[in-house]
Parts: sequence; C-alpha cells; structure tokens
Amino acid sequence: MPVDETNARSVTGSGADGRIRVALVFGGRSSEHPISCATAAGVLRAIDRTRYEVVPLGISPEGEWVLAADDPERWSLRAGHTPRVEGPGPDGDGHVVLPLSASGGEIVVLRPGGRAESLGRVDVVFPVLHGPFGEDGTLQGLLELAGVPYVGSGVLASSAGMDKHYMKIVLAGHGLPIGPYTVITARQWRSEPDLCLQTVAALSSPVFVKPARAGSSFGITKVADAGDAVAVRAAIEAAHEHDPKVVVEAGIVGREIECGVLEGRGDARPRTTLPGEIVVDPGHGFYHFDAKYLSSEGVQLACPADLPDEAGSRMRELAARTFDAFGAEGLSRVDCFYTPDGDFIVNEINTLPGFTPSSMYPFMWQQTGLAYPDLIDELIQLALERPVGLR
Ligand SMILES: Nc1ncnc2c1ncn2[C@@H]1O[C@H](COP(=O)(O)OP(=O)(O)O)[C@@H](O)[C@H]1O
Ligand SMILES: [Mg+2]
Repeated sequence: MPVDETNARSVTGSGADGRIRVALVFGGRSSEHPISCATAAGVLRAIDRTRYEVVPLGISPEGEWVLAADDPERWSLRAGHTPRVEGPGPDGDGHVVLPLSASGGEIVVLRPGGRAESLGRVDVVFPVLHGPFGEDGTLQGLLELAGVPYVGSGVLASSAGMDKHYMKIVLAGHGLPIGPYTVITARQWRSEPDLCLQTVAALSSPVFVKPARAGSSFGITKVADAGDAVAVRAAIEAAHEHDPKVVVEAGIVGREIECGVLEGRGDARPRTTLPGEIVVDPGHGFYHFDAKYLSSEGVQLACPADLPDEAGSRMRELAARTFDAFGAEGLSRVDCFYTPDGDFIVNEINTLPGFTPSSMYPFMWQQTGLAYPDLIDELIQLALERPVGLR
C-alpha cells in the first residue's frame, strides 16, 4: 500500500538532523509486560533511523518510568528469556517523568538526589503497551494532559476496547453482532454468588470465563458445563487474579478470523487488511498465551484466510465499522468468529494489538502489501497529522 510521500516527508522533527523524535513507551504494569517488551524489540530493530530518533522509555512492572536501553536483544521474548524493565534503583539513572502541564512533549529525568534534567521534547509518543495502564486509556489520558501526539486510539476508544463488558455495549449499540454473555461485578459476586451462578448456568455450554480487562488470554478458562457450579466458581476465582470484574460468554462455534485496521489518511475511511485466521491445533484447546508468543507449534497464522470472496469482504466491512463504532484511531485489530452458517460474530477489538514482527497484525499488513517498517512509519505519520485535544 503506497504511503502518502508528500505528507510523510514534510515534518521536521526536534531530534538531531531534524529527525522526528519518537518516545517508544513499553513494558508497563499489566501481565502483558514481556509481550510489550518484545514489541519494543521489534520496533527498535525495524524503525527507520534515518527519519526517526528513538527515545526508549521503559515502565517497570511496578510502574516506574526509566530511560531504557536501545537494544532489541535485551527486550526480545524467547524461550528461557522473559524480558523485564527494571526500576531505577538507588544508583540508577533516575525516574523519567512527563510533566502533567501541556508541555508539548518535554521529557524530564529526576536524577538521584532529586535534580531534574530535561531530555528535551519528543514529537510523538508510540505506546506499545498492552493491557491495563497502557492500552486502556490511562496512558492516553496522561498524553492528552501533556499535549503530546501519540500513536493509536484516544482515551475513550482505548478504555472501551479494553473492557470486555463495555466493549459489548458499544458493539451492540452500533448493531454489530455479538454473542450471549453476562457480567459479574465484584459486588454482585460478594453479595449474590448463587444468582451469578444461575445467570451463568443459563448460557449455553461451554462458557468462557474471562477477566473483563486483561488480554493475551490471561485468566481465561473454558468451562465445559455452564451448570457445573464448582468449575464455574473456580474459573471466576482464576479470572479474579487479574480483575475483580468478570465476563462470562457462551462459547461460539466458529473459525477465528481477524482483520487489521489502519485509520484512513485525511478523511478517508479506515483501511483493512486481508482477513487472517488463527488455526489452533485441537490439542491446544484455545488460543492461549504459549500458543500466542512462545511456540508456533499447534498454531498457524494464515493470511489471506481461506474464505469465499463475499465473506472476506463482509469481514473487512465489519472490521471497519467496528473501528468506527469505537471512534478508534491509528490501528486496531478486530477479531471475529465465523460460524458454520457463514455469519460473523465480533469477539473483540484490540486497540493496541500484538505488534511484534511475527504478530498477526503486522503479518496481515505484510500480506496486504505494507511491510513492518512501513507500517511503523505510517502509524507515526498518522499520529503527527492528527490534532491533539478534542477531535
Ligand atoms: N465466546 C467464545 N467462544 C469460543 N471461543 C472463545 C470465546 N471467547 C474466547 N474464546 C477463545 O479464547 C481466546 C481468547 O479470548 P479473547 O476474548 O480473545 O481474550 P484476549 O483478550 O485475552 O485475547 C480466543 O482467541 C478464542 O480462542
Ligand atoms: Mg483475543
């Protein structure tokens, strides 16, 4: 896909040689910390250094911001190596802060002893964080306050897309197809557990019990029989390890078809990839963490998915409509089930989808004609072109 060269080349950045200064923010407080590091590794390796000066900012699992190594090896995720951002420690470089006033992207380091040192402005922030405190609108709110452009969706789309409960409400409100589900809040579970179990039992089996705001399949249990109170209770408790709010869904029989979406340039409609498919070996049960990140065994990514043309077009249209329903910006991946009847049911939108070079989202763009480095470029350009504040 051709990138608009005129627009793309016109911006002069604040970095050395007029390069655009990009703060790559990764790590973070969610369970998806290592995956975010792996994405950072991919971006650090692929970003065009002749155009972009990168300032890698890591967030430790405890939530401390630090200047991080510009070292793809250090952040890659492989068997036996789980990357982790360490906090500044007593003798370290110090905490990195983003002033909360509308400072236009200035970054400050608080050196040990409390001395503050400016690292200058960044032109754009590229958050490659997944899950709570990154993908859920909280970081986006901070960046709005700081008045700095950033890649991806704003506060509302990020938070609604992170929360599987409100995600369903937005989808249903736009007439987009979803499956049967119920929500169990922490208060309901404490005060009326039997009623909660009854509501779950009314769903068709199997059921998927999920933390409302996690990702990467963390905390999800498939329960074969919705009426099995012991198993459902155990699944709810497992989900509570990640989130006090739980969503329980009726299992959908269908193939898992996904589409990548990129915001349109100017006022153009969102662009979509050829549909892709996650083909999971039956032995793996469902698309869990190991299948997603550690072993390609038992799972295959196919793009284009083997679908009739008409179904492929319908999927792409559904993905674009889902993107618009959330008011998403930049990028999203829309995941659906394709039922044996030929219907699509939206499972979820991911506003910051897995973005390692081998992840589904970049892979689908690659197959559609946009290579990983060009995709990174396009996302940064989209962020620079859009105004900050209400839009
Ligand atoms: N309602 C459902 N019916 C059938 N399979 C499901 C359902 N919900 C989840 N799954 C399976 O579990 C996986 C992870 O669930 P998902 O809701 O996508 O969570 P995450 O946000 O962690 O990716 C899906 O990719 C799919 O394989
Ligand atoms: Mg998913």
